[in-house]
Amino acid sequence: MTMSDSRLPRTAYTDQTWYDRERTELFRDAWSFIGIESDLAKAGDTITGAAGPYPLFVVRSETGELRAFHNICRHRGAELVEGNGSAGSVLVCPYHRWSYGLDGALRGAPDWETCFAGADKASLALKPAAVGVFQNLVFVNPNPQADFQSWIGKLKDHGWPHDLHNGSMIEGPSLVYDMKCDWKVFAENAIDGYHLAYLHAHSLGGPPPDRNVWERWGDNMIWYATDDGAVRYPVPAKVRHDLAHLPPVPGVSMSGYGGVYYFFPTTFVVPTPYGLSVSRLVPLSAGRCELHARQWAQSWGEQDGRQHVPGYDPDSGRITSDRLASHPLETGDFQTEDVWMCEKVQRGLESPAYEHGPLSKGAGAEDPIRWFHDSYARLVSLDGSCDNGACPSPSS
Ligand code: FES
Ligand SMILES: [Fe+2]
Repeated sequence: MTMSDSRLPRTAYTDQTWYDRERTELFRDAWSFIGIESDLAKAGDTITGAAGPYPLFVVRSETGELRAFHNICRHRGAELVEGNGSAGSVLVCPYHRWSYGLDGALRGAPDWETCFAGADKASLALKPAAVGVFQNLVFVNPNPQADFQSWIGKLKDHGWPHDLHNGSMIEGPSLVYDMKCDWKVFAENAIDGYHLAYLHAHSLGGPPPDRNVWERWGDNMIWYATDDGAVRYPVPAKVRHDLAHLPPVPGVSMSGYGGVYYFFPTTFVVPTPYGLSVSRLVPLSAGRCELHARQWAQSWGEQDGRQHVPGYDPDSGRITSDRLASHPLETGDFQTEDVWMCEKVQRGLESPAYEHGPLSKGAGAEDPIRWFHDSYARLVSLDGSCDNGACPSPSS
């Protein structure tokens, strides 16, 4: 089997049984972005999120460290913490008011002696998860034994332009894209350097495969444009030209760091000279997902910029392709072009006639998709999943 045959089978993108298995096998040991450390300024502050099917939360303890737990009450399983906020010194379940310390220990429950005589409180602590912080970005993993330092690897020594701690940037409106494609279709598109010069000819304007590069950092990756000489820039030359009127974030140079950071499997971070966005893919079902994006910049003007995002529905606050007022290729918005294309790919994958072609070679082409498949296959069993005569063969 040659490297170019390294593919996931069609059913990995279309089949609900596969999706259900993937939810367990992949996400039980996957790091997901949950929020920023500045959201957790003082003891008792909480942020909530999920890694696949695992609802999780992070709390700042009384002694100042971050702790992550499964957001599941040990009584009857209700989600314990809601949204982002402060729990004070105790976490109280709204269902029957079981209460937990910031260390996860069960403190008490109403009518304990009457209703739970003989029950062992010590065995009913919240289930721990793992937490790690990289450049103020907080990641969680349902597996309490997961090793953040080995996952983030040497990336922590890599250049990074924006310090969200110092408050030099303002958070803008968050965006939710509702997409009719499997989350892996979107992830593969986001790390595909081959399409930039073609699908995005009028928005990003490239670069072609030999003028951009993805670097592999374990399961994670960093992308650079190299379309202006040998210098690695965070954005393509056309974007630098188009946005030259914008003030860069003070102290940030145009070069010297990545343009897109991909944190396997579902987190994308785009630090540009003008701001920062952090996006999280949320799988919903086979062939359906959402992208949740938070963004920071020097200023956002007076208006809620979401109304200018193609496909934005002010009633639901969501962005969908069926709300587009013009053809995606006429919007000049590369994210709209990507969503449009991912939904087209999903419809192709849904056809029983689908048969994959070869992936292009090169770190500025489709090699990153191979790397994605390698990481995926380490966690999700592909046994017996050949289809259309093609068996996946993650290079190993
Ligand atoms: S489910 Fe939380 S107290 Fe009953
Ligand atoms: Fe794209």
